[in-house]
Amino acid sequence: MIITIDGPAGTGKTTVAKRVAQGLHFSYFDTGAMYRSVTWAIIEKNISLSDLDSLQKLLEELSFHIKEVDHQKRYFALGKDLTEEIRTQKVTARVSEVAALKPVRDSLKVIQRAFAAHGDCVFEGRDMGTVVFPEADFKVFLTARPEVRAQRRLDELLSKMPEEARNLDHDKILQDLMRRDEIDSTRELAPLRCPEDALKIDTSDLSIDEVVEKILNNIKDKFPSRSV
Ligand code: DC
Repeated sequence: MIITIDGPAGTGKTTVAKRVAQGLHFSYFDTGAMYRSVTWAIIEKNISLSDLDSLQKLLEELSFHIKEVDHQKRYFALGKDLTEEIRTQKVTARVSEVAALKPVRDSLKVIQRAFAAHGDCVFEGRDMGTVVFPEADFKVFLTARPEVRAQRRLDELLSKMPEEARNLDHDKILQDLMRRDEIDSTRELAPLRCPEDALKIDTSDLSIDEVVEKILNNIKDKFPSRSV
């Protein structure tokens, strides 16, 4: 069974997807981490986004994989643990441009579909329900007001990466979110869009517990024989 959870940054997607996966005993995949890892490698190797040969070579060498350490997912590419580095502002500022490139999307789509062969999974991203798994068993689309999303992102940075948050404030983060939304939702390939058949939830005034409960209840209603 495949569950997709799409939506823009700051809607609570990652936490919700993890909790839904736990509740169902499913595997969980954060596909944004994959786009971030490619972006990190492009910056590290100083590859120009117009240099398609070097980009293709990088994608072939990338060998992206995920390891579970102490119940936490760790993301590896090019033999390096990138779990923390992919969350830095340096990567965040460039990831939307990288995610708009066809060779990048094509190659990550193959990896994402291969992950699905492992069995029951929750996939979180921007195009999971529309492009990568259009036949998914259950689709969710999360939204939230932009100011709420910016505040959540700031709180997250302050608690997890205070160094990164030092030069940022609510307005700067809001501007960056709006710029990324614009690129992610207007790009030609796999733009961020709510799948027609998705359960749409505005998380602005809901707790994580309420969002998770809503999703699990809807899954239970659709698949009554599954123990949720
Ligand atoms: O969820 P996130 O902020 O970690 O995602 C980082 C970027 O990756 C985001 O700006 C859009 C892109 N992305 C995408 O284009 N398709 C996905 N399935 C997941 C993420």
